[in-house]
Amino acid sequence: MSEWPEFDFETDGMCQSMFKPFILKEMDLLAEFDAQRPAGITYIFHQHAERVAHDVEKTCLSMGLSKNVARNMYWATLPHDCGKRMLPVSIWDQEDKPDGELKRLRRTHTELGAQIVEDELGDVAHPFKTLMTEIILNHHEQMDGEGYRGLSAEQLSMPVRLAAIVEAFDGWSISRPHYGGRDITIPAVLKRMREEKAEHFDEKLLKAFTEMKTEEYNRLEGPGL
Ligand SMILES: [Fe+2]
Ligand SMILES: [Fe+2]
Repeated sequence: MSEWPEFDFETDGMCQSMFKPFILKEMDLLAEFDAQRPAGITYIFHQHAERVAHDVEKTCLSMGLSKNVARNMYWATLPHDCGKRMLPVSIWDQEDKPDGELKRLRRTHTELGAQIVEDELGDVAHPFKTLMTEIILNHHEQMDGEGYRGLSAEQLSMPVRLAAIVEAFDGWSISRPHYGGRDITIPAVLKRMREEKAEHFDEKLLKAFTEMKTEEYNRLEGPGL
């Protein structure tokens, strides 16, 4: 059985009448939340969400999955960090690498996001809702079982595994105070994911994402990887 979502978000009645307005509203709320954060921050959540959703869509297409799957995955990935707005603005932008209580609190954004879906769409049953909720809840899980919620690889669907890769890539590509002088160019982040973080990710999907991103990089920046 394919785990990739084969309905069509763009023509499905419930997707258009319920899920699309829900997602667009959540993105607006996340943008409002971002606007309350300090000036000069680099990791802007609603922009991160857009980039991740686009890259997920592009990876699906480059793997030969259908346009429907790619589009469904775009929409399902867009609200993945919606739970961040439920936490205090002050916890997100600090000079030091977060640890202890702060780290624990930040990590609850996955469960808070799933709670938003449950509060707003609790009585709705549709495969898109299942997909979206799964990505919101599990996008920080790892194949080695060391993710936020400690799920094992068998518990992670292909869509979740892909979202986790693309989301991590984007996070590591944005300059942040605690990164110091680390190389955050596209080739360097991909290399680090392959060489130092391989156990976090689905091997085949990381390969597919790396190929898509490398091809794009070479096309836009000239060969060099
Ligand atoms: Fe997240
Ligand atoms: Fe994210």
